[in-house]
Amino acid sequence: MSRSLVNRLAKSVSGHVTAARGRDPATGGVSTVEILATWPGVHAVLVYRLARRLHLAGVPLLPLVISYLGRSLTGIEIHPGAKIGAGFFIDHGSGVVVGETAEIGDNVTIYQGVTLGGTGFQAGKRHPTVEDNVTIGSGAKLLGPITVGHGAKIGANSVVVEDVPPRSTVVGNPGHPVKVEGRRVEGPDADWIHLPDPLQDAVKSLSGRIKELEKQVADLSGTADPGNEETDPKPRKGRSSAGG
Ligand SMILES: CC(C)(COP(=O)(O)OP(=O)(O)OC[C@H]1O[C@@H](n2cnc3c(N)ncnc32)[C@H](O)[C@@H]1OP(=O)(O)O)[C@@H](O)C(=O)NCCC(=O)NCCS
Repeated sequence: MSRSLVNRLAKSVSGHVTAARGRDPATGGVSTVEILATWPGVHAVLVYRLARRLHLAGVPLLPLVISYLGRSLTGIEIHPGAKIGAGFFIDHGSGVVVGETAEIGDNVTIYQGVTLGGTGFQAGKRHPTVEDNVTIGSGAKLLGPITVGHGAKIGANSVVVEDVPPRSTVVGNPGHPVKVEGRRVEGPDADWIHLPDPLQDAVKSLSGRIKELEKQVADLSGTADPGNEETDPKPRKGRSSAGG
């Protein structure tokens, strides 16, 4: 084995251990040897790197066999065709699936049970593109050739089938942004409690017109104006799910 290959291998291994140390508090007080021996997320990514290298070199069969062995060992399935940047970290890991045409940027973190999958049987680019510094919570399903913008956070158990804006937080099923650029999303699209009520709006408008007519009748006939009464039949109250 050439010296440069050994150096590159050592750099790759050390990069993955550093990623684990930076993002998994459980690594505190744990030696590098222990991480290398017992962290399935680290094993899975190292196995993927080997399978990917062979895949790019055009070696038949072996990349998929190595991938299969990695999956048997860790419960994490990463197709050798997927493109993954530096500093990728999978915490815990079991049940993770990364599909063949998925693309993952640098310093991405994913937890157990995450799927970067397709939506059906179509060919071509069919898996998500995840940009740099994204975190994807446990159990989240990201489906189709969507793009998750850099720095985004995907909440645990979300089901995401549309593009995610950069630096946003997306939660729920279907996944929807609750924060963009660190600020809570306002407005009817994000507020799932205070939904628009066209009937109430019509009643309010009619009520205003009746009041105006009553005032005109009172002025003409010289009788007393019935005065102001509560015209909002259903005042809005309660917490906004968007924090607004
Ligand atoms: C989404 C997450 C990253 C937090 O991101 P954040 O930008 O700090 O967002 P906040 O905590 O301010 O939450 C924003 C809103 O989304 C809601 N929310 C947060 N996570 C949610 C989730 N997974 N599902 C549904 N709603 C969620 C919050 O209750 C809050 O609602 P509100 O505006 O009505 O109060 C975090 O909640 C999460 O799910 N992390 C995954 C962690 C994980 O998988 N751990 C596994 C360890 S083994």
